[in-house]
Amino acid sequence: MKLLKRKSKNKTKKTVYLIVNENPKSPITEQYRLIRNNIHFSSVDKEIKSIVVTSPEPSDGKTTTAANLAIVLTQQGKRVLLVDTDLRKPSVHYAFNTSNLDGITSVLTKEINLDFAIAKTNVPNLDILTSGPIPPNPLELLDSKAMELVMEELKDMYEYIVFDTPPILAVTDAQILGNKCDGVVLVVASGKTHKDQARKAKDMLEKAKCQLLGVVVNGVESKKNGYGHYS
Ligand SMILES: Nc1ncnc2c1ncn2[C@@H]1O[C@H](COP(=O)(O)OP(=O)(O)O)[C@@H](O)[C@H]1O
Ligand SMILES: [Mg+2]
Repeated sequence: MKLLKRKSKNKTKKTVYLIVNENPKSPITEQYRLIRNNIHFSSVDKEIKSIVVTSPEPSDGKTTTAANLAIVLTQQGKRVLLVDTDLRKPSVHYAFNTSNLDGITSVLTKEINLDFAIAKTNVPNLDILTSGPIPPNPLELLDSKAMELVMEELKDMYEYIVFDTPPILAVTDAQILGNKCDGVVLVVASGKTHKDQARKAKDMLEKAKCQLLGVVVNGVESKKNGYGHYS
């Protein structure tokens, strides 16, 4: 299958604030720890290893939350993998300043092996699997048998796998992944996410039979920007 190749150097480079490292005492860091506790206690009945992070809309703080939650999860000596499954607007590679020439799409299309696609970070115990080239058919890739096999393989390699996803009110990717994972963390943007959007997102997760592990209220300012390709 032909994938649209992306250049690793991107002029509109966006950084993601790894707040947990820079400000371990802030209230938002405390929210990540609360989610970690929820995951820990929810694991009593059913082991929680694979976690989807999503939100109603673009720019709510999904990638920021996924990256910071992954870091918090490593802080108890667990091996954690952060996977960029926002195959529409990937940005995990920006957060960790790595190349995105290869990634999960390259693994799913059998271009490279999983081991080769995974990158180490400078956070101890944290590895990342970037998106790789943006595919024309994100949903088909995420809903594939190949994806299920990769997820099984990752569960043997890591104690936690955190999946960053596109906004749930825009496309069904997060529902599909949430259904295959052990739990979902919903991010809402303080002062931006409307109550009915949050409720709709929650309903959609329930409909997809996802276990809600918690809600992170992210203190991000409202931003208008072009996410036209989600529609
Ligand atoms: N808690 C926060 N503090 C400071 N900046 C934030 C915070 N959350 C998000 N941002 C910034 O807002 C923008 C959108 O966040 P991001 O995590 O990429 O959202 P999403 O993945 O939902 O589109 C990014 O530039 C990010 O760095
Ligand atoms: Mg994102």
